[in-house]
Amino acid sequence: MSATPIVRLGIIKEVTRFQEHLRPLGVEIPCDAEILRGGDSPLLSSLTFADGTIGNRIAINPMEGWDGMPDGRPGEHTVRRWRRFGQSGAKLIWGGEAVAVTHEGRANPNQLVIGEHTREGLAQLRAVLIEEHKKAAGSDAGLLIGLQLTHSGRYCRPNAHGRPEPRILYRHPILDRRLNLPAGYPVLSDGEVRAVIEDFHRAARMAWELGFDFVDVKHCHGYLGHEFLSAHTREGNYGGSFENRTRFLREVVEGIRTVAPHLKIGVRLSAFDTIPFRPDPAKSSPGKPGPGIPEDYEQLVPYQWGFGVEANRPIEPDLTEAVKFLALLEELQIGLVNITAGSPYYNPHVQRPALYPPSDGYLPPEDPLVGVARQMRATRGLKERFPNLIVVGTAYSYLQDFLPHVAQAAVREGWVDAVGLGRMTLAYPEILWDAAHGRAVEHKRVCRTFSDCTTAPRNGLPSGCYPLDGYYKGSEMAVRLAAIKKQ
Ligand SMILES: Cc1cc2nc3c(=O)[nH]c(=O)nc-3n(C[C@H](O)[C@H](O)[C@H](O)COP(=O)(O)O)c2cc1C
Ligand code: SF4
Repeated sequence: MSATPIVRLGIIKEVTRFQEHLRPLGVEIPCDAEILRGGDSPLLSSLTFADGTIGNRIAINPMEGWDGMPDGRPGEHTVRRWRRFGQSGAKLIWGGEAVAVTHEGRANPNQLVIGEHTREGLAQLRAVLIEEHKKAAGSDAGLLIGLQLTHSGRYCRPNAHGRPEPRILYRHPILDRRLNLPAGYPVLSDGEVRAVIEDFHRAARMAWELGFDFVDVKHCHGYLGHEFLSAHTREGNYGGSFENRTRFLREVVEGIRTVAPHLKIGVRLSAFDTIPFRPDPAKSSPGKPGPGIPEDYEQLVPYQWGFGVEANRPIEPDLTEAVKFLALLEELQIGLVNITAGSPYYNPHVQRPALYPPSDGYLPPEDPLVGVARQMRATRGLKERFPNLIVVGTAYSYLQDFLPHVAQAAVREGWVDAVGLGRMTLAYPEILWDAAHGRAVEHKRVCRTFSDCTTAPRNGLPSGCYPLDGYYKGSEMAVRLAAIKKQ
């Protein structure tokens, strides 16, 4: 845990106090004292993209709910979540949520799947989102909706919540141990990889037929696309050199351009990573995880199992290959990139900075503002290098009441083109829309990073903002979650 106690942001009432609070932390987070409204708001300015415009700078990052039907169709909670995406006023919907390209590639038995049998359900999600967006924003002009396509790779659990069925690309000295993979556990063959690539082509074609504007070829958070990027030790066509590790992306893109030539493509990228973390055993007791510490890695340097990490000190980010990757995106004429980091499975403090850990997490090893600033800094650096790419930023929810001030400053200063909302979308999807229209932010709805939206799915329940979203109050799901948290 950080040496000085972490100050709860909820007790800071004024933006000037928040600005002062940042100083001793030594983090660079831009923050405007005054929120501009309407035509003056940077957040409401439009963005030129390809042959059209994106109507404002508010993006909804993909937020999965673990609440689809067993066959991969959306359920009633899924439909409600997409309605709320629409109510946010955001003009860039980045994926909605992770949608598996096949049943085997699902991260949980309630993840959405894209296939003939789910066509109608996915069309409904898009339709309700547009319907609600029109009510909130007056029209759907400048609305860009993507679908995030995924294969969960190492984190596949398609058939039962308690039954991992990892599909791995290489043997990982730390993550294999965590997943209890025996010595002879198979890696996906190049032939199996090619079959997955074809699944992406089929899925993208369907997304196009359903009217989605783009698909995100997901490369983040430890799932399959991301694992390719760190497949240094893999043999064959998809591992080793940078060219081989990005072959998956190139072949997916090539096929999409053939089957759906007018469909736009985006990529969500974990631009950097770190060693997997675990609760410090010396400071943990049953049911009470201690602060996070990195797994021992001294015997593993130079580290060959990460993307965006310094090989000799793999707890530090290294953006060299992220820069190469974005250059490749430009070469492939992919104009949309969403920057995230790490993985929710092995370093959640990097991926989604929070004060309160999820049930499988650990206490924050640093002030979560350091985690926010780390992602913002990386994103800013990449935007500077690639001014022609549309870059969406991530990890703003921990900023809580000051999210609008920081989001406005980040867009105004050109650190990002659009600010992506993750957890805040579950708690208070309209926060930036309200702020930019001069409406008071509703403090009681602001996400406080309680992590129930992660604890619930880790225990086989649908995800949602149980503490703040009245929809869950008194529900059977909430009762079950409360019982789990008491154990
Ligand atoms: C419940 C939950 C579901 C998520 N689902 C997805 C997902 O389907 N795809 C994805 O790329 N990221 C997903 N994320 C990560 C978020 O998009 C985002 O990167 C992360 O929460 C950090 O942003 P924030 O600070 O705004 O929450 C999820 C996060 C949470 C908490
Ligand atoms: S459960 Fe609600 S308050 Fe807690 S992190 Fe998730 S969205 Fe935020």
